[in-house]
Amino acid sequence: MALSPKEPIGTPLHVAIVMDGNGRWAKRRGLPRTLGHRAGVEALKRTVAAAPDLNIRSLTVFGFSTENWSRPAAEVAELMALPRRYFESDLARLERDGVRVRALGRREGLSPDLQEMLAEAEARTAGNDTFLLQIAFNYGGQADIADAARKFAQDVADGRARPADMTEATFARYLSTADFPPPDLVIRPSGEQRLSNFLLWESAYSEFVFQDVLWPDYGKDHLAAALAEYAKRERRFGGAVTDDVLAAG
Ligand code: IPE
Ligand code: MG
Repeated sequence: MALSPKEPIGTPLHVAIVMDGNGRWAKRRGLPRTLGHRAGVEALKRTVAAAPDLNIRSLTVFGFSTENWSRPAAEVAELMALPRRYFESDLARLERDGVRVRALGRREGLSPDLQEMLAEAEARTAGNDTFLLQIAFNYGGQADIADAARKFAQDVADGRARPADMTEATFARYLSTADFPPPDLVIRPSGEQRLSNFLLWESAYSEFVFQDVLWPDYGKDHLAAALAEYAKRERRFGGAVTDDVLAAG
């Protein structure tokens, strides 16, 4: 089955994950936080491998936020090294398995080396269509919205767009997540219950599942448990309960 842009919401699912708890995982083991982040990459590999079996077609993961720059320099350096660590071991397999990789977030501000790595991952997988993996790196929902607004304003200034063209659908096309459906489900492990500037626009009608597991321990069983919880939810997108509508009709 081909992955097409603008696919209707429903199964197969688009799941977004705030990969959280690496630092606490390391601390509990008396390890430096950097080792928690490395263990987090292994959890990402397990989760990406498990997703297609669970009927997930797109996965968006939060790797580094525009606010994470405020961490100590050594930790930032370790986080910046993670995409290379991940792609060096996994890009060939992702490419072979039909996974299309996209990086979300601000490229400027990343080292030329890292920008190149992300561009290479995108280019080598651009023709793939069985699974979409979006990695949010140097990403912030507010920054992405601000960037989209700036691009639209520039298009208006250059005569390519008019203010009257601005609608929700138009705006979505200026975001870095343009062209693909919004997440059906947002998962946050580690016990924290907040969005932390992830997919602010896109999560308008997402379901949220919070789990008490630290990200480096995450795997197929946790993902399956989150999906089981999601399956119990009733999504109405602002409409009414279907049975009530039928009864009223
Ligand atoms: C997630 O783990 C990794 C990033 C945010 C980049 P944390 O580093 O936030 O781990 P905790 O929250 O301190 O446990
Ligand atoms: Mg955290």
